[in-house]
Amino acid sequence: MMVYKPDKNGLQVNTSQGYKNVEDFLRGREQPLYLYSQHDVKSRIEAYKGAFSRPIDMRFALKANSNRTLLKEMMSEAIGADVVSIGEVERALEVGVRPDDIVFSGVGKTKAEIQRAIEVGVGQINVESLPELERVIATAKFLNKETRVGLRLNPDVSVSTHPYITTGLKENKFGMDISHLPGAISLLRTAIGLVQCHGLAAHIGSQILDISPMVQTAKWLRKIFEDLRGEGWALQTLDLGGGLGIDYQDENHDSDFVRLKEYGSQVSEVLSGLEARVLVEPGRFLVARAGALLARVEYVKETPYKTFVILNSGMNHLLRPSLYQASHRIVSVRPRGPTLVRCDIVGPICESSDVFGREKELSLPREGDWLAILDAGAYGYTMANSYNLRPLPDEVVV
Ligand SMILES: Cc1ncc(COP(=O)(O)O)c(C=O)c1O
Repeated sequence: MMVYKPDKNGLQVNTSQGYKNVEDFLRGREQPLYLYSQHDVKSRIEAYKGAFSRPIDMRFALKANSNRTLLKEMMSEAIGADVVSIGEVERALEVGVRPDDIVFSGVGKTKAEIQRAIEVGVGQINVESLPELERVIATAKFLNKETRVGLRLNPDVSVSTHPYITTGLKENKFGMDISHLPGAISLLRTAIGLVQCHGLAAHIGSQILDISPMVQTAKWLRKIFEDLRGEGWALQTLDLGGGLGIDYQDENHDSDFVRLKEYGSQVSEVLSGLEARVLVEPGRFLVARAGALLARVEYVKETPYKTFVILNSGMNHLLRPSLYQASHRIVSVRPRGPTLVRCDIVGPICESSDVFGREKELSLPREGDWLAILDAGAYGYTMANSYNLRPLPDEVVV
């Protein structure tokens, strides 16, 4: 089902009380804003849980969206948080996540971050290198506080996504190489009773549309998990990470759910009979569709070569097109008529990469009209910055 639906009365957004006019949320506003449909996020959480034939523990990746209002609603569905900085730990606690339901990943955790995570009792620190494990052990000893770690392993699998968002290849900085596992085990032996080896983790990338490497990774992880258990390590969690993508060109989103079902069923199959808590860390899948970046047209600039629609929002608010060459669907909140014109939709930033869409077909807007850049709820506001000293956009949850 569409979250944002073009209609003769203007663009509509799906809410728990049916479709509402997007213009209703724009009245009196001039500055760009992210609009999120909380209804859509909640139904996706349900769909995600239902896709597996075994219980799973969801840990939403806060890096995709850390809006407080949205997070509070999400957390009422009994999911936890996957975080990668102490800022995200604090945000998770602030919106009511139990410390026990937090998984803390990331390759560069500082001493202060590790200390705070242990003090608040984060459920699992996913360690990504031997020096980091040494740091965690030293901090747990210093605080004399029991700590649970997961070993994030790098499976060296290739996924077809943008090279900037693969994380499971041996040339990526993420996770521990399998050859370091014996070293990790030796370190853990020095801290028995204090630092518990709670589980194994892998996360191989983001915006993954071909699920086979994800399933292959689950299988690979299971084998190592069982081997370690066989050696007497009381592992409890198998953390499969996030990564499930969405087809940004698919208007009605059906393909998302087909892919999710297939993923859930194949992962459930490769993990069948395994007695473990299975953690998943979806980010994009839950929130991307729910969000639209709404921006106003400042100018329509005609040149002998092109028509540029210049917005009051740019790569400073949504980095994905310029960082990953991502292509988002762009629609008018209230189209001016049926005739479509080819234009480049750009921002005000002084960079030629500040382009939301090239050669897009649009009913030609006028100054002051609003456009919606769709599927912008993940890695949108969280990556926004104030380059050129421009203010951050607003966020509104409906
Ligand atoms: C460790 C970890 N878990 C989960 C995610 C969420 O990924 P996605 O938004 O693709 O589901 C990420 C993002 O790359 C991540 O780094």
